[in-house]
Amino acid sequence: MSTNNGHMKILMVCLGNICRSPLAQGILEAQVKRNRLDWKIDSAGTSGWHAGEKPDSRAIAMAKQNNINISNQRSRMLTPEDFIHFDFILAMDEKNYRDILRVCPSQELASKVHLILEFSEDRAVREVPDPYYDGGFQRVYNLLNEACNGFISGMVSA
Ligand code: 4NP
Repeated sequence: MSTNNGHMKILMVCLGNICRSPLAQGILEAQVKRNRLDWKIDSAGTSGWHAGEKPDSRAIAMAKQNNINISNQRSRMLTPEDFIHFDFILAMDEKNYRDILRVCPSQELASKVHLILEFSEDRAVREVPDPYYDGGFQRVYNLLNEACNGFISGMVSA
């Protein structure tokens, strides 16, 4: 992994960019702030279905319960330029990972893409489940919080 953890740029990606990746962005931003790191975090969706929209109200509420405000985020679609701009592109599930690679402009840049739960200490779960239809935002929050913690520890000690 080639990293520049002085001012790393990380892009969280899910399908709609209204549930999982906005939460992931908010959680990592909060942790980055707490650790006084100068990193930039953003999020995007492989679909443009919700482009321009705020995060899902359930995601906003889940974040708020943890003193994180994600209500200013707006959904946008992943672009080929994102693979140049960001150091890490973190996918929520396997389908998401494959959809992200379809947008990737070169083989080399594909090494920036990882499943976010690769960074969790507990490696039993590989995918962050899509909560849009079935709910489960607390579990999504817990999985993302754990992964973001692992990501920061991994980078800072690297
Ligand atoms: P997300 O959840 O990928 O975590 O933002 C979804 C949001 C919207 C839809 C699917 C998943 N949708 O079908 O509109």
